[in-house]
Amino acid sequence: MIGMELRDKVTEYVKERVLALRVAHPGQYRNVSVVRTNSMKYIPNYFEKGQLSKMFFLFPDPHFKEKNHRRRVISPHLLDEYAYVLGVGGIIYTITDAEELGEWMKACLEGHSMFEALTDEELEADPVVKLLSSATKEGQKKETQISRLLFPRCDHRDHSYLDHFCASIPGPGWYPACFA
Ligand SMILES: C[S@@+](CC[C@H](N)C(=O)[O-])C[C@H]1O[C@@H](n2cnc3c(N)ncnc32)[C@H](O)[C@@H]1O
Repeated sequence: MIGMELRDKVTEYVKERVLALRVAHPGQYRNVSVVRTNSMKYIPNYFEKGQLSKMFFLFPDPHFKEKNHRRRVISPHLLDEYAYVLGVGGIIYTITDAEELGEWMKACLEGHSMFEALTDEELEADPVVKLLSSATKEGQKKETQISRLLFPRCDHRDHSYLDHFCASIPGPGWYPACFA
């Protein structure tokens, strides 16, 4: 599991948390890490087509002003990229306590041809859904919403432009956090 964070200090904080967990639980948390990067720009540089099984967007910045909606981390354009890096059957989880953003994310996901909502039975059977609202401080607040969980229905859309996009960008200009 890899976390992606824009700000140095937050990245450092997450890194310290992971390291502390590794010390407290020897042999565990070896598959958790964080990188400081702009996830809205560089996701296709980090992951191959179909590589991911789950993506989490937990309490993203709401960007309420209309002129800033383009900064939202869920958008029709970015969902194209997320569909590219997710394998068929992969799941996008979103949670927010900003009602307007919840509606926005739900509309983006429902309006995208590569995603569809999980059934109530699937939601019930998924342990991650319960963790979203119980394992985060914000998630315990009553106004928190969980937008519907969706997954790529099929792989029919031509994403070859993304293959081209990835190949055309020179080496990384960001720095993965290193763990002992
Ligand atoms: C409201 S906070 C939520 C943080 C965390 N998910 C939580 O639940 O506490 C949003 C975080 O996303 C980060 N962020 C915003 N835009 C980003 C981007 N394009 N790439 C990576 N991180 C970003 C911000 O720096 C901030 O730390």
